[in-house]
Amino acid sequence: MARTVRPRVFVTRQLPGEALGRLGRHVDLRVWDDELPPSRDTLLAEAANAEGLVTLLTDRVDAPLLAAAPGLRAVSNVAVGYDNIDVPACTTRRIPVGNTPGVLTDTTADFAFALLMGLARRVAEADAYVRAGKWRTWSPTLLLGTDIHGATLGIVGLGAIGAAVARRARGFGMRVLYVGRKARPELEAELGVRRVDKAALLAESDIVSLHVPLSSETRHWLGNEELARMKPGALLVNTARGGVVDQAALIEALRDGRLGGAALDVMDPEPLPTDSPLMTLPNVLLAPHIASASHATRGRMASMAVDNLLAALDGRRPPHCVNP
Ligand code: DGY
Repeated sequence: MARTVRPRVFVTRQLPGEALGRLGRHVDLRVWDDELPPSRDTLLAEAANAEGLVTLLTDRVDAPLLAAAPGLRAVSNVAVGYDNIDVPACTTRRIPVGNTPGVLTDTTADFAFALLMGLARRVAEADAYVRAGKWRTWSPTLLLGTDIHGATLGIVGLGAIGAAVARRARGFGMRVLYVGRKARPELEAELGVRRVDKAALLAESDIVSLHVPLSSETRHWLGNEELARMKPGALLVNTARGGVVDQAALIEALRDGRLGGAALDVMDPEPLPTDSPLMTLPNVLLAPHIASASHATRGRMASMAVDNLLAALDGRRPPHCVNP
């Protein structure tokens, strides 16, 4: 970087690995050193003095923040999703927005599959049962679950993560359907997947797994009407965004027993309020938005976010830039 005055950068949380050390060698760095995100007021105050922001999905970058940040030149989100950022508003200000695709694909797909298997075979319930001292004998009817092999998996969105889940499903002998943008025929053949319409996917899938970003088109993609069309007793896995599901409708379908169960890494809102009915339903498996949380992957995400930010501050298009 040819500048003599180092650009001021605010990072909204400590990040794993070496990435922040590297960033600190190039910029005047301030890192929010708390477990919880900075408050909105703090974020606005920090942004007011910053040329670069490294954000997480908990930090809203919107028009009011941009108005409060006249010197801002770069935003880098440590996530593949960027529904926390008003990208059109950033584009109007010519602020590049970076994200971290690719590096988390397999880690997220691993976790989607872990949730799928944990839900279908009732792993969390089994663990709680043993720990509670309820295990008195082998029983032919104890904790019966759903077979994964031979089941039909409906993938919503065959992007990189959806395709990685399909690859795993194939190894487990599942039949895989998908909805969304048509994949290349070679990819369909490699994964052994078939594209169907939404009605067919809902009607035929034993397990539905969501892999679409949150946008105005996908908000509440799965609502009352869709839940009613699902196979009775079907299972839902969500590692995408909580807002893709109408959570009130989901709770009703789980309570009624129309839906067999749900495994949710993402909810609406996050964190899930402790009085949410989801907390007490036995056929629900919950995780605190950790699908990409492996040591290696989180380190790579941080590093990629730093690469994106440094490129943008240097006047180059970030290697992973979501502006059109
Ligand atoms: C993302 O990257 O969008 C995930 O939700 C967090 O890893």
